[in-house]
Formats: sequence, structure tokens, C-alpha cells
Amino acid sequence: MQIKEILSLSPSNQSLVIKGWVRTKRVSANVAFIALNDGSTIHNIQGVVSDGAVSEETLKLVTTGACIAMTGTLIPSQGQGQSVELQVNSIEVYGTADPEKYPLQPKKHSLEFLREIAHLRPRTNTFSAILRVRHALAYAVHTYFNQNQFFYLHTPIITGSDAEGAGEMFRVTTLPATNPPLTEDGKVDFKEDFFGKETNLTVSGQLEGELGAMALSKVYTFGPTFRAENSNTTRHLAEFWMIEPEVAFNELEDNMNLAEDFTKFCIKYALEHCADDIAFLEKRLLDEEKTKKKEEQSELSLTEKLRFVTENDFERITYTEAINILLQSKTHKQGKFQYPVEWGIDLQSEHERWLVEKHFKKPVILTNYPKDIKAFYMKLDEDGKTVRAMDVLFPGIGEIIGGSQREDDYEKLLQRTKEVGIEEESIWWYLETRKFGSAPHAGFGLGFERLVLFVTGMSNIRDVIPFPRTPKTAEF
Ligand code: 4AD
Ligand code: MG
Repeated sequence: MQIKEILSLSPSNQSLVIKGWVRTKRVSANVAFIALNDGSTIHNIQGVVSDGAVSEETLKLVTTGACIAMTGTLIPSQGQGQSVELQVNSIEVYGTADPEKYPLQPKKHSLEFLREIAHLRPRTNTFSAILRVRHALAYAVHTYFNQNQFFYLHTPIITGSDAEGAGEMFRVTTLPATNPPLTEDGKVDFKEDFFGKETNLTVSGQLEGELGAMALSKVYTFGPTFRAENSNTTRHLAEFWMIEPEVAFNELEDNMNLAEDFTKFCIKYALEHCADDIAFLEKRLLDEEKTKKKEEQSELSLTEKLRFVTENDFERITYTEAINILLQSKTHKQGKFQYPVEWGIDLQSEHERWLVEKHFKKPVILTNYPKDIKAFYMKLDEDGKTVRAMDVLFPGIGEIIGGSQREDDYEKLLQRTKEVGIEEESIWWYLETRKFGSAPHAGFGLGFERLVLFVTGMSNIRDVIPFPRTPKTAEF
């Protein structure tokens, strides 16, 4: 039985075995207290070892980090915060942890330090809480789509296409790194490769998701995606998980409704199912906030912030309206934006966060961006200048979702692929969906780690994925 379940039991004479990792051991006059955790919950169970119940030698091996099994009976707890504790009769030590060498001591460690020991950090309260919330959110994603008649589509990881056209791909090849076969004009000859052409790790499952939607109507993908962008920011990873619903017959408005309903569902799910972990993370955040200047401190607690988002409508405005609001802002007039604002720019994180955190103070959906700053597959608006794009911006995060209604007209799509320099031979299969039974459709991509960031109140994306892949960290 795991600690989460045991903590809900009533005291009894029945013998129980509890297995886990020692968080702390406290020895007083003739009794030792062991706080044990097995990752099933943020709470530890306390083992009480009365004098003589366990040999001195065994008790010596019970140090922070050791893995043990305690056998005993549940008794009412004298301590605060829990109703039961274990009166220990015997202890089996599975694995010791030399206190001189074990890096996780019972004290507060910095997140930077913990990032260096990614192999052990799941054993801390903060990271085990984050990992449980991450699990709950993943479960919420599947629950939401299953309840709404979507089919989970598995899209390929190895692909020949660059869905976003940004060229930020990790190449996959079986060719030797030194002396690869070359074509007559001196380029690497990918025809000699296992796949017979240039392939890469996927940046998005969208294009294949669209193929699914043109048959099953409502599909979603949820898988790892890869971007070889060398951005050392607190919002970017080289490997991240993306959720991409794609729906036939949906237009931009339906897409916005889906994005809003879906994110609210996931956040509510976490609030309902991870109350203890969120309460713990909220307290952690409060301590962190105290170190900030008064004006930078958040007015809302983590739970209040999450509730607020689930209970209020997201603001919906066009890109053009957003640019006008930014141009009229004091921040712009005083020249305080690092990147100047004008129609046509790709909004920077500072602009997005100003709109969300300073101006609207709630999530914002921005739509109808200039076509030149968006991907080739987005549906052109009547004005010929903007596309039916939407980005969802969240407080403290910036862009959490990017999506659009897709171009469903064969000629227009072909024209766009030519304009952006995509070769027809490389994307003929995608273009064919517009030739045979084309339909209006729309979808979006939610960066899963950005959602986990928001729900946990953490501020660095490296801290919400078990093993972050960034330009600096990919040891194992
Ligand atoms: O805006 P993006 O690039 O859109 C797409 O990939 C579309 N194909 C999605 C679609 O319409 N089906 O990425 C979508 C989201 C972003 O809003 C962001 O949350 C996340 O993916 N994202 C990243 N998250 C972590 N690290 C990175 N390097 C990310 N790049 C994008
Ligand atoms: Mg985007």
C-alpha cells in the first residue's frame, strides 16, 4: 500500500509495511522519528521507533536518502498535519545513502543546483509535486478529448517535412558524419540514406494531424516535438511536448472556443485533483515572492490565479487592434519597449506580456496576424494581408498556444508554398487533401510545458519537464 492511501486509514492493530525514501530522521532521548516519502503524495508518513525496537546498527543506516521498508502498526499521531503515524517494529534497509556524499540534504536547495542533479531531483518535494501535476494535466488532456469525441492520432517523429517552415530542425540520418556520400555538385547525397531523402525530427504533428482530420473529423496529437533553436530562455526547450487538436468544419471562431474551453478544463482538472500539490507549490511561490520588490509581487496567490483564469472569458482581439493598443501605451511612448512597435512586427515576449499582464490582466487571444510572419498553411483573410491565425497569451507565460484556420483552397495554398519556397514535390501529399474532398478546418498547438509552468507557478521551463533538453543540458 502506498503512503497516500495509508494516510487516509484509521489507526488499527493490523501490521503494515511501508516502503519509501527517508526524508529526515530525528532522534530524541529514547525515540527516533523517521519521515518517509514514496512519491505517491506530497505528505510524508512519520515512523516512530521506540527505544530498542530496531537495532542501533540498522537505525544508523537510516539517513536522508536511504530506501527502507518500515513494518509496524498505525497509531493516532500526536503531531500536526496528519492523523496517523507508524509505530515501527522493524526496518529493512534496501539501499543506504552515505550522508557525506548524498547531494540532497534536508534543507532548501536552489533550483539551479537541482537542475545539475536532474537524476535525483524528483526526490524533492518541489519536483515530485510538479511531476504529479504534470501527470494529472496529461491525463486531463486525454480525458477532455475523449469526452469530446476526438481520436488520438499518432503522428511520426521522423519526418521529411518542416511544418513551421522555420528551418529549426534536428537532422536524422544514418549517413556517416565524416566522409558522407556526396552528389556531383558536392552536397550530402541523402538518396544514399536509409530513408532515401533528407529527414528530421518533427517540429509539429500538425500536417499529419490535418490528414487525420480530413478522415476522422476530430483528432488530436500529443507527442514530443523538437526545435533546434538555440534559445536559452526560460520558455524554450529543444525537446518539448505538444498537444495539437485538428478539427474538420471548424473555423477560426470555433478554434478559439475550443482552445479556451480545453485549457480551462485542464486547469480545473488540476485544481480538483492536485489540491495538495498545488497548495505546496503555492507556499513555495509565496516564499519566492517575498524576495521580490513589492511592486513585482503577484497580487493573487497561485490558486486564485488559476481560478481566475477558469472563471473569466479570455479577451479576444485582432493583431491590428493589439498593435494600436501597444502604440498608445505609455511604455511605448516613453520608449521602454526594447523592440519598437509597428504593424507587421512579430510580437516579442515583452509586448505579449505587457498586453496580458499590464493591460488586460487576463488571457488574451490575438487573431488575424500579418501573413508574412506566420506559417504558409494559414488561411488568407479577404484583405490578402492577414491570415486566420490565433495565438493564446497567458499571464506570466506569454504565448501558450499557436493555431489557425487552415488554407483549404488548393490554388491559394499552392501559391503560398511557392511564395515561401517549399518545393511541391516535398509536400504533394499535403496539397492533395485540398484536391480531394477539401474542407474548412482549424487547429492549434499547446506547448504542454508552458501549461505545466502556468499551473505549478514555476518560472523556468527546465523545471517542469523531468529531463530538460536545452543547449546546455542533455547529459542523459
Ligand atoms: O506556435 P507554434 O510553433 O505552432 C505550431 O507548431 C503549430 N503547428 C501548431 C498547430 O497549429 N497545430 O508552437 C505551438 C506552441 C507554442 O504556442 C508554445 O506553447 C509551444 O508550442 N512551443 C514551445 N514550447 C517549448 N519550447 C519551445 N521551443 C517551443 N516552441 C513552441
Ligand atoms: Mg507560435
